[in-house]
Amino acid sequence: MKKEKDSLLFPQREEGEQELNFEAGIRPKSLDDYVGQEKLKANLKIFIEAAKARCEPLDHVLFHGPPGLGKTTLAHIISYEMGVNIKATSGPVIERAGDLAAILTNLQDKDVLFIDEIHRLNHVVEEILYPAMEDFKLDLIIGQGPSARIIKLELPRFTLIGATTRAGLMTSPLRDRFGMISRLEFYNHPELQIIIERSARIFDIAIDSQGSWVIACRSRGTPRVANRLLRRVRDYAQVKADGFITQQIAQEALDLLEVDHNGLDKMDRKLLSTIIEKFNGGPVGIETLSAAINEEKDTIEDVYEPYLLQEGFIDRTPRGRVVTPLAYKHLGYQVKECKD
Ligand SMILES: Nc1ncnc2c1ncn2[C@@H]1O[C@H](COP(=O)(O)OP(=O)(O)O)[C@@H](O)[C@H]1O
Ligand SMILES: [Mg+2]
Repeated sequence: MKKEKDSLLFPQREEGEQELNFEAGIRPKSLDDYVGQEKLKANLKIFIEAAKARCEPLDHVLFHGPPGLGKTTLAHIISYEMGVNIKATSGPVIERAGDLAAILTNLQDKDVLFIDEIHRLNHVVEEILYPAMEDFKLDLIIGQGPSARIIKLELPRFTLIGATTRAGLMTSPLRDRFGMISRLEFYNHPELQIIIERSARIFDIAIDSQGSWVIACRSRGTPRVANRLLRRVRDYAQVKADGFITQQIAQEALDLLEVDHNGLDKMDRKLLSTIIEKFNGGPVGIETLSAAINEEKDTIEDVYEPYLLQEGFIDRTPRGRVVTPLAYKHLGYQVKECKD
C-alpha cells in the first residue's frame, strides 16, 4: 500500500492534479529557458547541433540524479530542439516485450522515446532493448516451444532518453549503450531564484527579490521544491497580506510550513534526530533506519539522503549512516563527544 508522503517532494493527493498542471505550465520548453546545469547544457547544445547537421537522430542519452532536478524537462527540451516528437513512458509500465515492440514500431524517424525510471525495466524487456538501441532492430519471439519463431523487425532510427534516480541500479550493458550519460546537480540559490521569478512571472504572482531569495534558500537545491514552495507562499500571502510576497511574508509562510533555513523539512529533521536519539548518532544501517522512521528504504536513498549528504548533515560509511556535528548543531543538540 502506498503511504501518504509527508514531504515537499510528494504532492498531497488532493492537490496532485493542480500540481501537475502547474508543473506543465512552467516547464521550460527550450534549452535557453532551462536555468543552470551549465556544463550539461553546453554539451547538449553541441551534441544536438552536430546530430542535426548530419541529419541523424541524437545518440541515446541517460540522465540521472535526485527527483525534481529537471530530467523529464530535459527530455522534452531535447525533442523540441531536435524538432521531433517525443513518446514518454516509464520502466515499470513496459511489462512485456510486446509492449516495447508496439511503442518502438510506432515511432517516426528520429523521434525521442523517453523512459522514466529506466532502472525498473525488467530484464526481458531490457534485453530486447539492446539490439534496438544499437542497430535499430528488434528480435521478437512469437509463440512457444518448437513452433516458436523469431521475427526480425527494422525499426525507425530513434533516440532513447532514459532517466533514473538510481544509476547504480542499472545493469552495465544497458548503461554502456548510452552515448551520453549526465548527472544532474543540485541548483545553487541564485539559479533557484531565477527559476522562482520566472514561475512568478508566468503565473502573475507578485514577489520582490528578497522574497524570492528566501524561497530559493529553502528549496533544497531543487526546482520542483522551489515551485512548490512558491505556490504555498502565494497562498499565505493572499490570505495574510495583500498577495505580495516580501521577505517577511516568505519567512513567515515557510516557518509555518516547517521548512527551515537550510530547506530541511519535517521528514529530513526526523531522519536526523532519529539517528541522533535512537542510534547515538550512527552508524546505522539503511534497513534499520527505514523501520525506525517508517519510511521506505528507496525513498530515503533517492529523496532524502542526496541532499543531506550534499549539505554535509550525514555521511555514508561502510557500517551505515552517521550524522555529522553540523546536524547536531543545526537541530540544537549538544555535539557528540568523540569516543574513539
Ligand atoms: N533547469 C530548470 N529550469 C527551470 N525550471 C526547471 C528546471 N529544472 C526543473 N525545473 C522545473 O521543476 C519541475 C520538475 O522538473 P522535472 O523535469 O519533472 O524533474 P525530474 O524529472 O528530474 O524529477 C518542472 O516542472 C520544471 O518546471
Ligand atoms: Mg521526472
